Amino acid sequence: MTSPRRYLMCRPTHFAVTYRINPWMDPTAPYDNALAVAQWESLRRAFLDLGHTVDLIDPLPGLPDMVFAANGGTIVDGRALGVQFRDAERADEAPAYASWFREQGLEVTMPKHTNEGEGDILLAGDVLLAGTGFRTAHASHAETQEFLQRPVITLQLVDPAYYHLDTALCVLDETNVAYLPEAFSPGSRSVLRQLFPNAIIATPEDAAVLGLNAVSDGRNVVLPVQATELSAALARAGYHPIGVDVSELRKAGGGPKCCTLEVRP
Ligand code: ARG
Repeated sequence: MTSPRRYLMCRPTHFAVTYRINPWMDPTAPYDNALAVAQWESLRRAFLDLGHTVDLIDPLPGLPDMVFAANGGTIVDGRALGVQFRDAERADEAPAYASWFREQGLEVTMPKHTNEGEGDILLAGDVLLAGTGFRTAHASHAETQEFLQRPVITLQLVDPAYYHLDTALCVLDETNVAYLPEAFSPGSRSVLRQLFPNAIIATPEDAAVLGLNAVSDGRNVVLPVQATELSAALARAGYHPIGVDVSELRKAGGGPKCCTLEVRP
């Protein structure tokens, strides 16, 4: 059921909050780069302690959000779909991640439409769940399906605080997810109920600490330590929650999953 995973991460050497492209970011508020690095190290350590492999991509100066490796691409069956960011501030991250994918021998294609990688595209069993509404364009869902050759299910995000799918939904294993219903349109909520009748429903309080921005290997779920109700619900459902504190990265609107891109060779 659980097998060792391969993750790509980017040390937040140049992490900062200097612009505002989501409601969590306040460029006038203080942040602590050293604390961000220390918290990120604890996340990396949690993955290593679980027996997973963590690859690192070199952080580039002037790209304060590059720590959010989930936005670097979507990799399934050795095929890597690159990204195209909505915002100019992050544009230069796209070629950096694509180069890393090519160095690994992955087949890479770049999207024509806005696509923010695993921020919005999540593999759930055999299908890809794809968010739209704020970042990844609906038009990119078709090119995602075409290149990655997996059925794509569109989910409409409606709350600007949950601007990426991975802030509102976490894939737990091949057949189940946790999510915040309020983050989705009525039609998408209905689709989620049909696909995942046993889903764990998160509370607004869990979501507000980015609790759903979690990384699961099918049993161990690495999530923000502040998401106490979600953690308890996961344990009741037979998962093993592991709390990490990445509160400094939350100032940019990111959590554990944002920092983590799964490499599926
Ligand atoms: N500041 C970044 C942005 O707004 C945060 C990205 C978070 N990544 C994620 N996968 N949700 O683009």
